Amino acid sequence: MNNHQHQGKHVFVAGGSSGINLGIAKAFVLAGAHVAIASRSADRVAAAVSELMSVASEGVRVLGFSADVRDAEAIGKALADAHAVLGDIDVLVSGAAGNFVAPALGMSPNGFATVVDIDLKGTFNVMRQAHVYLRKPGASLISISASQSYTPTKYQAHVCAAKAGVDMLTRVLALEWGEQGIRINSIVPGPIGDTEGIRRLAPTPEAMQRMNDTVPLKRLGKLTDVSDMALFLCSAQASYVTGAVIPVDGGISLVGGRDLSAGLVGR
Ligand code: NAP
Ligand code: COA
Repeated sequence: MNNHQHQGKHVFVAGGSSGINLGIAKAFVLAGAHVAIASRSADRVAAAVSELMSVASEGVRVLGFSADVRDAEAIGKALADAHAVLGDIDVLVSGAAGNFVAPALGMSPNGFATVVDIDLKGTFNVMRQAHVYLRKPGASLISISASQSYTPTKYQAHVCAAKAGVDMLTRVLALEWGEQGIRINSIVPGPIGDTEGIRRLAPTPEAMQRMNDTVPLKRLGKLTDVSDMALFLCSAQASYVTGAVIPVDGGISLVGGRDLSAGLVGR
């Protein structure tokens, strides 16, 4: 696939200061796109902007904003400010998320609500607030889901519920906004190595080995496994793809009964 087609595009990545989302931001910067990222911590945003600038070609712009996706007004302002500098948004990624491992009975109502608020309501806020700034026709939107959306997983009641909601929201917005030439798809990553998400789900070497062994392809994913899918979904080659929920997971969403009990630490 020709990644030069992304040169000069305007990209906004919510939750883009680390891990999988930063990997996607980096892939677009390397392809010559102008990229804005947003997350809560101004320090983490600044560090990520520096990292992205270090791989950017001359003329590529990288912007960073501090905003919590749970605050519709704050994320709306970040989107407005990015739009004021870059112009209409071609690519929007909603990837902010929170997770911890706990049984449903070990989750307070606020613990459950916190993850639903970040993952599901956050994705609604990002996409709803971005709509006015999207290129129409032509914008490509991506929700970052998780295999917990497909597979009921013990100690992940909040994430399973939230990400299933994210995938349904993706499909509804694809229906509603299709006639404006906006495409919206979900990427469903499996366990991706060297990320905060996998560190929380498999906090010991034994748990990490078990996770590795559980994946049908017998390896953890790489950041580029996910960012390659993002580049594809935003490419001309995917111009007829919308409302799709696409696993990039080594097959783990096919596997039931996973054991995450090793993640029950520290509480
Ligand atoms: P990560 O490094 O912790 O990334 C989460 C990002 O979201 C950070 O940039 C964080 O920055 C930001 N964030 C968190 N809460 C936020 C909020 N309320 N408002 C705005 N930004 C917020 O985690 P990751 O493991 O790479 O996960 C990234 C995405 O991939 C998530 O959607 C996750 O569900 C999904 N995923 C990950 C895996 C995996 O194996 N890692 C597997 C399946 C799906 P701040 O702290 O500065 O806010
Ligand atoms: N077990 C049970 N409950 C937990 C918990 C755990 N391990 N960690 C947090 N909670 C509960 C808290 O007790 C609180 O509930 P309470 O008010 O009833 O006590 C609630 O969750 C919110 O916690 P708080 O720390 O105030 O939330 P926050 O908004 O500051 O942070 C989190 C959100 C908890 C999701 C935090 O882990 C985070 O910021 N995560 C982002 C990074 C991440 O998770 N990356 C992986 C993505 S896959």
